[in-house]
Amino acid sequence: MDYFPIFLDLENKKCVIVGGGEVAHRKTKAVLKSGAIVNIISIEFSKKFNDFPEARCFLIKEEFNVKHLTDATLVIAATDSLSVNKKVANEANKLGIPVNVVDEPSLCSFIMPALIDKSPVIIGISTGGNSPVLTRTIKEIIEINLPSNIGLLAKMMGSWRQRVKERFNSFDMRLKFWEKLMDSEVPQLVFKNKLVLADQKIQEQLRNNSFEDSVGEVYLVGGGPGDPELLTLKALRLMYQCDVVLYDRLVSKEVLNKVRPDAEFISVGKSESQHTVEQHKINEMLILLAKEGKKVLRLKGGDPFIFGRGGEEINELAKSNIPFQVVPGVTAASGCGSYAGIPLTHRDYAQSVRFLTGHLKDGKLDIDWKNLNNKQETLVFYMGLLSLPKICEELMKHGMPSSMPIAAIEHGTTHNQRVVSSTLDKISLEVLELELKSPTTFIVGEVVKLRGQLNWYG
Ligand SMILES: C[S@@+](CC[C@H](N)C(=O)[O-])C[C@H]1O[C@@H](n2cnc3c(N)ncnc32)[C@H](O)[C@@H]1O
Repeated sequence: MDYFPIFLDLENKKCVIVGGGEVAHRKTKAVLKSGAIVNIISIEFSKKFNDFPEARCFLIKEEFNVKHLTDATLVIAATDSLSVNKKVANEANKLGIPVNVVDEPSLCSFIMPALIDKSPVIIGISTGGNSPVLTRTIKEIIEINLPSNIGLLAKMMGSWRQRVKERFNSFDMRLKFWEKLMDSEVPQLVFKNKLVLADQKIQEQLRNNSFEDSVGEVYLVGGGPGDPELLTLKALRLMYQCDVVLYDRLVSKEVLNKVRPDAEFISVGKSESQHTVEQHKINEMLILLAKEGKKVLRLKGGDPFIFGRGGEEINELAKSNIPFQVVPGVTAASGCGSYAGIPLTHRDYAQSVRFLTGHLKDGKLDIDWKNLNNKQETLVFYMGLLSLPKICEELMKHGMPSSMPIAAIEHGTTHNQRVVSSTLDKISLEVLELELKSPTTFIVGEVVKLRGQLNWYG
């Protein structure tokens, strides 16, 4: 972090702005909003300055000198003279007063963020002085997504804080109360300006909720194949709500970065060939953590119900009466197909698609090969890297032509994606030569040919 963000209380504090032009006027206006008393130093002032409230805004028609800084909490230099601005910065620094020099980051001890002011909710945005246009774009994105009454909601929650504190004596219970409130209809009521009803609902929740010995919940969430933009909105919401996350090795770093940063992170390291933590231990951990009242995120690659053992995990939860939710994710077949430019079905080439596992059990593949030789069906093999020669051999042995197109997609949907398009008789050697690693998915069928025209991702 290049700058450490803080919010200053400037109510009735002396702030000094040096300059009498347009920029100084803008800065004065911003600082006055915080309740500060502002001394503005300049030998000349634009007319606009006369509009400011006299009680809190003092125009001092003098050249800047160090005495102007006595007892100042904050200083802004906004003149059009670099030498004056430098002098202001030097004097302020000597006195240890935070100083901002407009458009001169090297002279600043603090910079001012762009603001979204929905008081008491205030959002500060900064790109560290790198790109004002990017700052504006970020501001727009947040403004569009932020309900206009968010400040009202904050005020209403503030007005209930003391009563909630009296009702629940532990921090944990209070936290649960507020989280539950945020999930209830109360925020929407406030956003629709139905404030009396919202107040009543809070009263009801305060009366009826008891969080003693309450059990937590497990969110079994599909993290998709790698690109974080493929996460569902629900997945993102739950990723931001959890207290603890148990994640597999397949979950990409970019997806993991979307989890609430102060949650507890536990890697259970599961991949198809390596189980750092055994499955039954993972099941036990989920139950134990939920029983401690925690919101547990079980984050898996792809979709939890497709070769993800998600069913087994929630079966154990159900047996122990632990509440859970399941959030589907984009499975590797869809992700890899889309990002490799290979539609899994196509009216001219494939009317159906079949997902298969190439995972070897005791060195063997348990697959009904006889029923796989269907020209109109696409086959997608998960976990097939080690068994690829066997898969190709069996498909050809059961009648599939050796020229049947097959694609290998490694790290699909990520910046490291590699795609090898080949045929059944050649792919094993090519995959070996190119040293493809896990995770890799294989797509077999005529649809693979379409990649020539439809590859958009590179
Ligand atoms: C244990 S399975 C989990 C599948 C996951 N639940 C899903 O729905 O995608 C692991 C296999 O998924 C496939 N896979 C997962 N992510 C992938 C990716 N980003 N690129 C290619 N294959 C992937 C690979 O075949 C890998 O061996």
